[in-house]
Amino acid sequence: MRTDTPVPTRLQDYTPPAWLVETVHLTFRLDPEATVVRSEIRFVPGAGGDLHLDGQALRLLSASINGEAIRPDLHECGLTVLEEQLPDGPFTWVAETRINPQANTALEGLYMSNGMYCTQCEAEGFRRITYFPDRPDVMAVYTVRIEGAEPVMLSNGNPAGSGEGWAEWHDPWPKPSYLFALVAGDLRSVEDSFTTRSGRDVDLRIWVRDGDQDRCAYAMDSLKRSMKWDEEVYGREYDLDLFQIVAVDDFNAGAMENKGLNIFNSKYVLASPETATDGDFEGIESVIAHEYFHNWTGNRITCRDWFQLSLKEGLTVFRDQQFSADMRSEPVKRIDDVLRLRAAQFREDAGPLAHPVRPAEYIEINNFYTATVYEKGAELIRMLREIVGAEGYAKALDLYFERHDGEAATIEDWLKVFEDATGHDLTQFKRWYEQAGTPRVHVAEQFEDGRFTLTFRQETPPTPGQPEKAPVPIPIRWGLLGAQGEVAAGTFVLDKAQDSLIVEVPERPVPSLLRGFSAPVILMHEGAPGDRAARLARDTDPFNRWEAGRSLALDTLVQGADPQDWLDGTIAVAMDETLDPTFRALALGLPSEDEIARQIAETGRSVDPDAVRADRIGLDRKLAEALGPRAAELRAAMATPGPYSPDGDAPGKRELANRMLGLMTRLDPTAPEAPFADATNMTDRLTALALLVREGRGEAALAEFHAQWQHLPGVVDKWFAVQAGQAAPDRAVEVVTALTEHPDFNWKTPNRFRALVGGFAGGNPAGFHRVDGAGYRFVADWLIRLDKLNPMTAARLSGVFETWRRYDDTRQDLMEAELERIASTDGLSRDTAEMIGRIRA
Ligand code: ARG
Ligand code: ZN
Repeated sequence: MRTDTPVPTRLQDYTPPAWLVETVHLTFRLDPEATVVRSEIRFVPGAGGDLHLDGQALRLLSASINGEAIRPDLHECGLTVLEEQLPDGPFTWVAETRINPQANTALEGLYMSNGMYCTQCEAEGFRRITYFPDRPDVMAVYTVRIEGAEPVMLSNGNPAGSGEGWAEWHDPWPKPSYLFALVAGDLRSVEDSFTTRSGRDVDLRIWVRDGDQDRCAYAMDSLKRSMKWDEEVYGREYDLDLFQIVAVDDFNAGAMENKGLNIFNSKYVLASPETATDGDFEGIESVIAHEYFHNWTGNRITCRDWFQLSLKEGLTVFRDQQFSADMRSEPVKRIDDVLRLRAAQFREDAGPLAHPVRPAEYIEINNFYTATVYEKGAELIRMLREIVGAEGYAKALDLYFERHDGEAATIEDWLKVFEDATGHDLTQFKRWYEQAGTPRVHVAEQFEDGRFTLTFRQETPPTPGQPEKAPVPIPIRWGLLGAQGEVAAGTFVLDKAQDSLIVEVPERPVPSLLRGFSAPVILMHEGAPGDRAARLARDTDPFNRWEAGRSLALDTLVQGADPQDWLDGTIAVAMDETLDPTFRALALGLPSEDEIARQIAETGRSVDPDAVRADRIGLDRKLAEALGPRAAELRAAMATPGPYSPDGDAPGKRELANRMLGLMTRLDPTAPEAPFADATNMTDRLTALALLVREGRGEAALAEFHAQWQHLPGVVDKWFAVQAGQAAPDRAVEVVTALTEHPDFNWKTPNRFRALVGGFAGGNPAGFHRVDGAGYRFVADWLIRLDKLNPMTAARLSGVFETWRRYDDTRQDLMEAELERIASTDGLSRDTAEMIGRIRA
C-alpha cells in the first residue's frame, strides 16, 4: 500500500523562475550503461532566491560554481543551493552526472531503443539527463558535444563540427529543456531539400534503420507540403538550415517536436502500399504536419508552465486539421475529427477523468496529454475563428507571432491577442478553458405567422470538482431548408443560459443546426418527424447531412426505433454517384459500440455490452439485406486499378469498396477469402483479414500474414491488434492470453503492448466486459506489470476503466475490484496512482 500522498502542482501557485539560463553546454560521453553528462550552465538572476535544479534518477559526480567545487543539498526531486551560497550576479555552474540509458524502461530522458540512443524530454524528462531548471519558462541557447562510437550522433539545431568519435551541434534559438533531443546509432538517412519563400535552403533528413529507407517517401513529401502550407496559410517559415526526423520503435507517444530534430514513433514515418493502410498514410501526413507546425506554435512561442499545454497542443492540432482538410476533403476531415472527438473527448468529459482544457492542478503532467487538452483545445480555437471570422483570426495570429515570439506564453496572452486584434471581448469565452464537461444545447421550435423561432437552452453537467457551471458562448451555425433548398443561413452565438433566434420565412422550414459541428456540444434536437430524413436526403451542409443519418442510426441502436428511415436514406446516399465515395462510406458507417454505450448511459440507463454488440450487428445485417446485390455491384464499381496511390480519390473508393465487403460478409462469411488472396495493398489485405477473423475463419490467413511480415514490427502490431479486436467476445480473453505467450509479444515496446492489450480493451468491448470479469483481470494484470517498467504508458491504459460506472452492478463491482487491486499494488507509480485515484473518486 502506498503511504506517501503526492502533493499536486497548482496553477495558482505559479512563481517566475529564481534564476534564468543564458547558455548551456552539454557534453555526452555515451555508454549504454554509464553515460556521463557534463553540463556547463550560465545562470543569470531571475526573480531571485535559492537555486533549485530538478533531477531524477541521476548520479551526481561533481558540481562547481564559478570553478569552485560545491556539495549541493540533494533531495528526491533534485538539488538546492541556498541563495547565500550563490554569487550576487551571473555565474557558471558545471556538473557531471552519470545515467544508465540501458536501464531506462520508462522511455523518458535518454534511453536505448533497438541499440540506438534516443531521448524524450517532454514534459519532464530532461531532469533525468542532468540537473536543470526543467520548466518551460526557462529558455536557453544550447551547444551539445556527443562523444561515442556511434556512426551517427545528432542533436538540435545546426551541425557545428564533427570528427572521429565526436560531433557537435549548436541551436541558436533559445528553447526550453523539454525540446532538447539527442540521437545516436547506426542510422541511415533519406535526404531532400526545401527552399523557403525567402530563399533559405533547408536540408531535410529522415533517419531510419538500414532497410527502411524505401518507406520514407510519403513522410518526406508530407514534410515538404507542410512547410509550404505553413508559409502560405500562416506566413511561417522554417528557421534553421537543417530539419531532421528520426524514426524509433520504442516510443511512448506519437512523435515529438524537438527543435530541428523531431523524434517519431516509427509508425508515423514508415509506409509503403504493401505495409501501410490508407489510414496509416493519412496519420503520417497529419503527424508530420503537426510536429512541423510546432516549430512556431510550441517552439518559437512555448508555454509558460504545463497548465498552458493546450496553448501549443490545441493550436497545433487545429493547424494540422486545417492542413489535412486542405490536402484532402474538408467535410470528410471534419466528420473524421468529430468522430474522434466524440470517441475520446466526449467520453472523457462524461466520466471521472473530466478536466478543463486548462486544468487547475495535476499530480503527474504526463496524465494530461489528453483528448481534452488536444482535441477539445483545437475545438476552442475553431470556435474562436468562427466568432471573430477568418480575417480576424488571421490578424490575431499575426499579432500572436509578433508579440510573443521567443516567449513562454499563457492562455491569457492568447486571448488578449484576439481581443486586441479584433475588438471582441473574450472574458466569457475564457470559461471554455476553465470549465470541464460537454455543454448540452436543448432546442425548441415554433412556427407562427411567418416567424420561425428557435429557442436554445444550454446546460453543462457537473464534473469532478465543478458542481456548478456558467453559460459559455456557443457559436451555432444554422441554415433553414425549404422545399426548394436553403432559405436562410447564419451563425447565432448562444451566450446566455437561454436565448432565441427568430427568422421570417413563409413556410415552416427544416432547421439544420450546429452546421459543420461549429461547437463541441451535445445538441439535443430531433426536430419534427421526418426532418432528419429530410436532412439526410438534402441538407446543403455535408456535415449535418452525415449527422442526420448518424442520429437516425442511434435512434435505432439506443431507443430501438424503426430503422426504415435510416436504411432508405443511407442507401440513397450510398448509391448517389455525385457524392464523394469517402463521404458515402462514412454515411454507411455505424456508430462504434463504445459510442452507442455512451449514448445509452446519457439516457440514464445502464449498458449491456452484449446487447449493444448484438443490436449493432443486427442493424449492419439489415443494411446488408436491404442493399442486396447492389453491395457487390457498388464494390465492383469502386475498383481502383493501376498503381496504388495514397492520395486523390483512390482511398475513398477503397473505403467504400471495403465497406461493401464488410456488408457482403454479413450474408456470406466466405466473401473476404478472394479479396484477401488477391489484395495488392495493405488497406485491402487488412480489411479482408479482419473480416475473416471476425467470422472465425482467419486461421490460415493469419498464419500467412505473419509469415509474410514477421520482420516488420509495424505490421506485426497489426497482426496482434486484429486478433485482439476481432476475436469472438466469449473467447477473446483466451485468445489474447495465448498471444501474450507468442515470441513476438515484446511487451516492453509500447506499440506492441498497445496493439494487444489496448487492442483488446479498446477494440473488443464485449470481450473486455465479459460478465465473468476475466477481461478486466487480464487488463489489470498487464497494467500492473507494465507500470513497474513504463509508468507513462501504463497510466494511459488505465483510461479503459474510466467508463466503469456506465455498466450494471455486477460489472461495476468487478471493475471496482480490479481498480482496488491496482491501487493497492506495492510501488505503484505516481502516474498510475493518480489515474486510478481519479477514476475511483
Ligand atoms: N508534444 C508532443 C506532441 O504533441 C507529445 C509529447 C507527449 N509527451 C507526453 N509526456 N505524453 O506532438
Ligand atoms: Zn503536439
